[in-house]
Amino acid sequence: MIGISIIGLGAIGERLLPIFKDHNEIEIISVYDIDQEKTIEICDKYNVKPVASISEMLNDDAVQAVYLAVPPKFHKDLALDIMNSGKHILCEKPLANTIEEAEIMMEFAKGKPLINGMNFPLYYGPAYKKFKEMLNEKKIGKIKRIELNGIFPDWPRKWQINPWIDSKDQGGFVREIFTHFIQLIHDYFGLIEINDSNAVYPEDPKKSEIDILARGQINNIPLVFNGMTGIGHKEDLKLSIWGSEGVIEFVNWRNLFLINRDQKIQIELDPYNATYHLIDSFRKAVEGEPVQLVDFEAGYHAVRIVEELLG
Ligand SMILES: NC(=O)c1ccc[n+]([C@@H]2O[C@H](COP(=O)([O-])OP(=O)(O)OC[C@H]3O[C@@H](n4cnc5c(N)ncnc54)[C@H](O)[C@@H]3O)[C@@H](O)[C@H]2O)c1
Repeated sequence: MIGISIIGLGAIGERLLPIFKDHNEIEIISVYDIDQEKTIEICDKYNVKPVASISEMLNDDAVQAVYLAVPPKFHKDLALDIMNSGKHILCEKPLANTIEEAEIMMEFAKGKPLINGMNFPLYYGPAYKKFKEMLNEKKIGKIKRIELNGIFPDWPRKWQINPWIDSKDQGGFVREIFTHFIQLIHDYFGLIEINDSNAVYPEDPKKSEIDILARGQINNIPLVFNGMTGIGHKEDLKLSIWGSEGVIEFVNWRNLFLINRDQKIQIELDPYNATYHLIDSFRKAVEGEPVQLVDFEAGYHAVRIVEELLG
């Protein structure tokens, strides 16, 4: 049994809270959000215990690990406080909202005998497992190009309005969405090099990108990033791996297709929940079991590419 506390009870904090709570080997010790009304509401809804301050949370010996789910700008200082107090950490993506902050976090974590994990759920999901299997089995021959396309009719999306998600310093679809796929590309293919990137911003200097078109490479495989918002098309997110014998498409987070000259097959996926798998992997890591975790180093490399794309 491990004791976990949560900082940040917004959209994602509330999404993960019940998964922690329902896990037989995890106990939620306490929760904290700077918004006191929200804290009370969440504590009533899920029957968890609030603390009056983060230092109260971090001084509690029953807390072995902290899940940090606040906006990106606040990750660095809080993550350092968490690790300084000797607690393991599961941090939200993007690791930070500048390369410098991400590097500080990565270096700080490296020197500590603590688990530093990140919430990149795709990595733990059934689609990525099959994606890797198909590539390992050379189902599409020689890889000719990797392409990430993200079309968002609106940014912010109507169901995810908050004070920071369309701000130039913390938000935008490249940080919020592309980050997930950059981490997967790094994991499977190796580190990306950006050759050129053109990010377009709206007139309001405080708002996030509306268009991105960039080229890069990994070990001589060309890579294209193409993202737009304000388009008359439903949301469409696709990572395509183009090969001499076929194409793999990873579509809208959970659908996987294998295409060749004659057909397009949707790949059947195991029904397990990626976020449960992530949380369970984190728990196992805290208990000293050998598991694969996306760590701060992977988070740093994702931030590096995201910030290079944004210019
Ligand atoms: N991994 C994923 O799939 C995924 C999905 C959505 C969001 N996220 C990431 O999760 C993080 C939070 O996103 P969100 O959508 O929940 O945002 P949100 O704005 O809905 O919630 C953030 C919460 O943090 C609280 N907060 C802000 N500053 C704080 C502080 N200093 N101390 C304590 N609480 C503080 C706010 O009051 C709010 O309740 C971001 O980094 C975001 O990119 C990840």
